[in-house]
Amino acid sequence: MGAPAKKLEPTPPSAITPHSNITDFGRRIFRLIGEKQPSTFNKNYWSGRIMEWSMRRPDFKLNMFRLVDVLPTLRDSASIARHVSEYLAPIGSDLYRPLGWALDINPHSLRAKIMAFIVQRVVGQMASQFIAGSSPQEALKPLRASRRRGQAFTVDLLGEYSVSEVEALRYLERYLEALEVLRLATPEWDERAPLIPGHPGDLSPVCVSVKLSALYSQCHILNFERSVAVLSERLAAIARKAQQAAATLYVDAEDSGTNPMIYEAFCRVFSSPEFAAFPYPGIVVQAYAKEARQVIDKLLRFAAARGPIAIRLVKGAYWDHETILSTQNDWPSPLFSFKQSSDANYELLTQLLLDNHAIVLPAFGSHNVRSLSHACCYAERLGLDRTKFELQMLYGMADPIAAAFQSLGYLVRLYVPLGEILPGMGYLVRRLLENTSNESFLRHTFFDSAEIDNLLSAPQFQENL
Ligand code: 2OP
Repeated sequence: MGAPAKKLEPTPPSAITPHSNITDFGRRIFRLIGEKQPSTFNKNYWSGRIMEWSMRRPDFKLNMFRLVDVLPTLRDSASIARHVSEYLAPIGSDLYRPLGWALDINPHSLRAKIMAFIVQRVVGQMASQFIAGSSPQEALKPLRASRRRGQAFTVDLLGEYSVSEVEALRYLERYLEALEVLRLATPEWDERAPLIPGHPGDLSPVCVSVKLSALYSQCHILNFERSVAVLSERLAAIARKAQQAAATLYVDAEDSGTNPMIYEAFCRVFSSPEFAAFPYPGIVVQAYAKEARQVIDKLLRFAAARGPIAIRLVKGAYWDHETILSTQNDWPSPLFSFKQSSDANYELLTQLLLDNHAIVLPAFGSHNVRSLSHACCYAERLGLDRTKFELQMLYGMADPIAAAFQSLGYLVRLYVPLGEILPGMGYLVRRLLENTSNESFLRHTFFDSAEIDNLLSAPQFQENL
């Protein structure tokens, strides 16, 4: 390894001017961001152009997502060429003339082979912006680099549904292997030293985030008891390994049908005597869920009895999926319909978590400068220092925002997904949706260049709970 890059020193709390005003604080963050852009929005890359076309033309966006979704399953260049022209031919050449060259071609020609190669590379390039490597070994370099920059990480292994027990057990195995790779590698790192001394979230450099449902192939709400039993057993196996590796752990939230089993398994495992000393086991709550407040109340009661836990508060990433599913089935949606309501709920829940800092380590997972500024300012109002909470962002989504908060001395943790593109497809599509949606804070910030004061204004509930 060459000489380590210079690490940004966190500003000691006393050197920071008090900032009771969220707008002033947010403006300061925007000044630190300056002209910097996440690479996803950089139009010098194909992926940046594709993002731009997706935002300009919803018809292109829809067909592009369909193509991205099906691409990893296509085996040869003829079928790639056929799918590309079926999905993109009507719109592509309209957007960008040279695309006409690639569309509407004989699927068995040399041109089709070249086009298939290029399309795979472009999608691979988009995926590599959000996915740090295909294996933990491969990811050691970017993980270490993030600590060297002064940012913590949590590793997620891509995988959504397992269709057989062989697949589910293989997924469990991959978590155990990842923890082993990190356990062996990190003692050699100078960067393992705490980023913020005394911060309970950074007792160890190793942290994993687990999507539970993929650990059991028959995980379903109609199979509640058995699902919780199997998920608890497999989560316990990961927690045991994490304990050996002195690692911390978050259990991710998923869709509303799966979450009750996830919360139940989390409480079952971390109330057992075996894990009584497990430091700050983490769980995720989604502010877009109408019942998020009740979920937090239950978790607070759990923490009061068990000892402190970590709660990552997010807005939620399954909105499109769940909203379409409820509409199709004529169910009332479990989620807020308006983005602003989720944002307003996020602020209420932020306050609730910080008020309970004695039993909860809150982790604010968001790319929204207003939401994060609100959290930092509320913590300051309560007189809490920077060891009482942390901020979390997704790898590759908001680097300039992460760097800005980190430079003010906050602990920023990146959520770093690892894995192959096929199991990663759901994750990739959720990131593309997050970047291109009309309601996206990142889009408004880095693409539409919305007024900063609008971006920082207080969100209001648009509907009743
Ligand atoms: C997702 O998988 C980050 O957990 C979030 O979309």
